[in-house]
Amino acid sequence: MNDQPQYILSLDLGSSAAGVVLFNKKGQVVMQLQKEYEKYYPQPGWIEVDPNEIWFTLLSVIEELKAAKGLTATQIAGIGIANQRETTVIWNKQTGQPIYNAIAWQDRRASKLCDEFRYQGFSEMIREKTGLMLDAYFSASKISWILENVPGARIKAEQGELAFGTIDAWLVWRLTGQRQHVTDITNASRTMLFNIHSLQWDQELLKLFNIPHKLLPNICSNSEVVGHTIASMFDGPVAIAGIAGDQHAALFGQMCLEPGMVKNTYGSGCFALMNIGEQPILSQHNLLTTVAWKLGDKVTYALEGSVFGGSSVFRWIRDGLGIIEATAEIEELAQTEEDNGGVLFVPALSGLGAPYWDPYARGMIIGITRGTSSGHIARAALEGVALGIADALEAMEKDYGQGIRELRVDGTSATYEFFMQMQTDILQYPVIRPNVMPASALGAAYLAGLATGFWSLDELQSQYAVGQMFKPGHASEQRIQLKQKWKKAIARVKNWDM
Ligand code: G3P
Repeated sequence: MNDQPQYILSLDLGSSAAGVVLFNKKGQVVMQLQKEYEKYYPQPGWIEVDPNEIWFTLLSVIEELKAAKGLTATQIAGIGIANQRETTVIWNKQTGQPIYNAIAWQDRRASKLCDEFRYQGFSEMIREKTGLMLDAYFSASKISWILENVPGARIKAEQGELAFGTIDAWLVWRLTGQRQHVTDITNASRTMLFNIHSLQWDQELLKLFNIPHKLLPNICSNSEVVGHTIASMFDGPVAIAGIAGDQHAALFGQMCLEPGMVKNTYGSGCFALMNIGEQPILSQHNLLTTVAWKLGDKVTYALEGSVFGGSSVFRWIRDGLGIIEATAEIEELAQTEEDNGGVLFVPALSGLGAPYWDPYARGMIIGITRGTSSGHIARAALEGVALGIADALEAMEKDYGQGIRELRVDGTSATYEFFMQMQTDILQYPVIRPNVMPASALGAAYLAGLATGFWSLDELQSQYAVGQMFKPGHASEQRIQLKQKWKKAIARVKNWDM
């Protein structure tokens, strides 16, 4: 029997589900399992998740995987983690228990604090240091909210009794038996407390948001062993060797290793990232500058267009409107009509991200007539998501000073054929789906595999293969009109919930 490790295990913690993906040496998926966990909506615009529920959901899929594959520690070369970013957890280091639910990245409760800082003129300083737009999306204002609103939290934080982390840090803490309090540089770069030039937590920002330094995790690179799992999990310790925010992991998994290469992941939200090389270009068109990854001492940066409406919109069509039973059915319903029948859908259910940045915008369906059908609405929803991404990519081209040649895509909705062709026709350049997905789990596996010597970078590059390429149809008058109407509709949703 071969006693060399055969697998890398990826833990993929998205906005609504905890997943595990087992990869073999060829970078192929051996087994993939995932389970959804609950989201809580205590007030309009508030979205929370229970960190313990995430942890126990993850444990249950790990148990299922172990049972199915008879996995033991010696078979696993390392663990990679790809996680939803920004979502904020604060826990008590003594008890190991969260002091409040995790505040999810889509949560808008801290918008007022961000407004205050904007009026006081801090936006530019924050943008220059962090590459981020002053917005409640990022962790800093969520941490402030918890420290201000959870009884006893501030004093305990000042006494060093509490720990903050994004979901990666929370999991590493639990996986290592509460021994390691660590986050990786990409997740750190989404907190709004991390300086992307000095590559450290920024004292001035900590002071502004009134957050004690003691609360923060240590920062690691994306490909290094940060600790080992407690022995009882896999009958022996396994190295946790790669961590990255899911979008950064997907950029790596899609092998966008050269400047100018772009991917978009269609998850709960949609996140387009462009590799911009070793210098952090600050956006002039309302995009984010973020750390793509750090390998050894070398840091690569990315421009990001974060579009908040993705499959969360299709889920709303399923659960809120009830016109489909499964999200994937949206494609079928959309194709019952030849066009959108004059209906436009702005999917700003959690406000607008790049390039508009309006936390007070809300979703809108406009152009409804007596002849409007559910098919028109489904089609308009798909178009709304695709048009939002096109806006972010257009801003990216302006910032980078060059046109995008192709878009690499991944995420659940990237498996929808009709939707991907629609996206291609709107963009008017090729859209490429790789043959191995999910790209975020693959990227995290790659990062862990590099750190443990399971793979070399050359091997990884040779594994990338195109699954399907979508080619654009002719740019029609209809599509030009669609874009014009879209701009008008965007203008109408702004500042709606002020
Ligand atoms: O910034 C939030 C992002 O990381 C969430 O990703 O795939 O869960 O939509 P996803």
